[in-house]
Amino acid sequence: MPQKRIKAVIPAAGLGTRFLPATKAMPKEMLPVVDKPAIQYVVEEAVSANIDDILIILGRNKNNISNHFDSVPELEHNLTNKGDLDRLRRVQASSELADIHFVRQGEPKGLGHAVLRAKGHVGDATFAVMLGDDLIDERDELLTTMIDENERTGLTVVALMEVDPDNIHMYGAAAVEPTDNPDVVKVTGLVEKPKKEDAPSNYAVIGRYVLTPDVFEVLERTEPGRGGEIQLTDALQELATTSGVLGVVFRGRRYDTGDRLDYIKAIVQLAVDREDLGTDLRPWLKDFAAEI
Ligand code: G1P
Repeated sequence: MPQKRIKAVIPAAGLGTRFLPATKAMPKEMLPVVDKPAIQYVVEEAVSANIDDILIILGRNKNNISNHFDSVPELEHNLTNKGDLDRLRRVQASSELADIHFVRQGEPKGLGHAVLRAKGHVGDATFAVMLGDDLIDERDELLTTMIDENERTGLTVVALMEVDPDNIHMYGAAAVEPTDNPDVVKVTGLVEKPKKEDAPSNYAVIGRYVLTPDVFEVLERTEPGRGGEIQLTDALQELATTSGVLGVVFRGRRYDTGDRLDYIKAIVQLAVDREDLGTDLRPWLKDFAAEI
């Protein structure tokens, strides 16, 4: 059955404190991963999942993000005159990807608050939330599987990944029960960034969600939680105990560009696989690794 087209929401209003001073005047979503800003990978992932309407929730330094998805006539003119058609194509790609809308978050009151800002645009429909820190390798399908699971059951679906228990304090952690499908679990509870000893499991929520619109009503009355912020995880905890939440277990390649070390690893891993860079980078990396 063909999938219903849903909208995607990309919250990009975080302060990016882990990357200061790089993020002093530039949002972390604009940090380059090889030669594209991180947020462009997320938009491309949405487009691959048949989504063509994307709402980006902006924080401070918003202009960088909206400019990136606009056309730049003088740059395009310059590249055309030089006959640099390859670069022209790449510059135009970001403005032709999808129908991209923007809304301001106003104050950085947390991920749950940012998602609530999408209510007017999304309306009474199921939608996807995609966090810019998590890049999912384009060869590993995740969002389409989550949308399928939502269409099959009508339930909210979150993406889960097993992580080292020492790292679970960096994520929303899920209590889960198996289903008939080894790649899908029932989520019976969720807790935002628990201590290792309090975590219900080592299943971490990674930044992809397919949410039913009842989440807005819950978010409207969700009190500030961890870090004094309105947490999406807390709203989903309520849905897990009422309407129901499923988890799609992801076993593919995910790059956490919100962490400095993982960001460096992500660039190297993606560049090694690139046709235009890999051939030169691979032997250099081997020599470099042999020397250190
Ligand atoms: C957010 C969510 C958290 C989730 C994580 C995934 O946290 O609050 O539940 O596990 O994204 O990347 P953040 O990384 O924005 O602090």
